[in-house]
Amino acid sequence: MNSKRNYFILLIIGVFFSAYAVFCLNLYNKRQNEDTHIIVDFSSEKQRPVNTSLESTCKPRRKVGFLKMHKCASSTLQNIFLRYAYINDLNAILPLKRWNYVGSPELFSLKLVEETPWHNLGYDIMAVHTRWNHSAVKEALGGGDPAFVTMIREPTQLFESLYGYFKFYKFLGNITLPEFLDKLEDTKFKRKMKYWRIQNNRYGRNQMLFDLGFPVKDFDNEIKVKQFVEETAINFDFVMITEKMEESIVLLKHLLCWEYKDLVFLKLNARHDSTKIKLSARQEKLLKNWLKADSLLYSKFRKIFDEKVEKFGYEKMEEEKRKLSSTIDQIVQRCLSGEKSLTNLLIKKVRQTPGCRLYALAGFDLLDVLKAAQWKRSDMAVLHSLDMLRPEVKI
Ligand SMILES: *[C@@H]1O[C@H](CO)[C@@H](O)[C@H](O)[C@H]1NC(C)=O
Ligand SMILES: *[C@@H]1O[C@H](CO)[C@@H](O)[C@H](O)[C@H]1NC(C)=O
Ligand SMILES: *[C@@H]1O[C@H](CO)[C@@H](O)[C@H](O)[C@H]1NC(C)=O
Repeated sequence: MNSKRNYFILLIIGVFFSAYAVFCLNLYNKRQNEDTHIIVDFSSEKQRPVNTSLESTCKPRRKVGFLKMHKCASSTLQNIFLRYAYINDLNAILPLKRWNYVGSPELFSLKLVEETPWHNLGYDIMAVHTRWNHSAVKEALGGGDPAFVTMIREPTQLFESLYGYFKFYKFLGNITLPEFLDKLEDTKFKRKMKYWRIQNNRYGRNQMLFDLGFPVKDFDNEIKVKQFVEETAINFDFVMITEKMEESIVLLKHLLCWEYKDLVFLKLNARHDSTKIKLSARQEKLLKNWLKADSLLYSKFRKIFDEKVEKFGYEKMEEEKRKLSSTIDQIVQRCLSGEKSLTNLLIKKVRQTPGCRLYALAGFDLLDVLKAAQWKRSDMAVLHSLDMLRPEVKI
């Protein structure tokens, strides 16, 4: 009787202390999460950030397949991925010549890079332009659970950007975008423009679906487009939105379990708003209609994106955006002396500031640095394998 009562008291005490322990642990976690101040370490170019938060108990993803979509802020994303590859001694799929493409208009295939000196190393990162073939990119990255990501943009804005950047008017009898849209009302002209692409078939209508590898001949087949969009939703872990750059980066950080320092982006070739073309509501509608396939893609992934943000939590999102901008601010202060964007004049100075060089490398310059590193790694691997073959000689 007595021992039963003692047992009961012990049980009560046990339950009480367990509850107390859980309470303390929660409090501790909360404190840790509230620590939003991130200190960037500039001491070495290749140094990994200091591990301070409990969040970093997740394991950083080291394999990423990124589809570099034309005119969707994709150079910014490419910089991030290639810089990460360089810092972490990862291998990226890169063409041998000074060119930002592997494939297009042909779809991606490993055959396109098999002649590169670093091909024997295997690949971790894909971040150059191509026309996507999901199974081929997956195969190229091998095992290790790669994350597949891309970034898309509202299709009419994207087309406007392409029109200027690739000088579409030159191929259309020197007409402006509004004039082009007025002509689209003519069914004969519209039919003529159905499969219109320029520069080795690389750029034109529905650029996003084209970059994703969708066949041009099926642009007006709504069933096939919808099917393809569904497949894309299965293949990609995360589709970012250009109009939501900061939110995209925050969610990307959490998907990849990287540090904000890894995801810093500086404005390198942002377009001035003064060149933006004003379209009438009718022209806007015509364009949207003509780009129906891309619009279907965009609305599907915009919806998925908004749901992701909601699930992440608006308050947490604001807090994470503050962490991101505080990290960017530190780098801007340190490397750009507070200037908002990187002019050519600044670039030289930034490259000489310790710990800043990589932030001032972009496009071909960054590709070159990475290629040199991969080439060297590949040479070392070959030398090592020759060493292994050398017969043991006793003198
Ligand atoms: C950060 O710390 C956690 C827990 O101590 C560890 O598991 C993780 O590997 C660390 N991350 C890095 C990038 O060092
Ligand atoms: C995509 O790549 C896979 C695997 O390499 C290949 O079998 C397939 O034929 C490719 N698809 C197209 C449409 O080229
Ligand atoms: C193209 O059009 C613009 C304005 O409409 C005109 O100033 C320019 O001279 C034209 N260029 C050619 C090559 O016709």
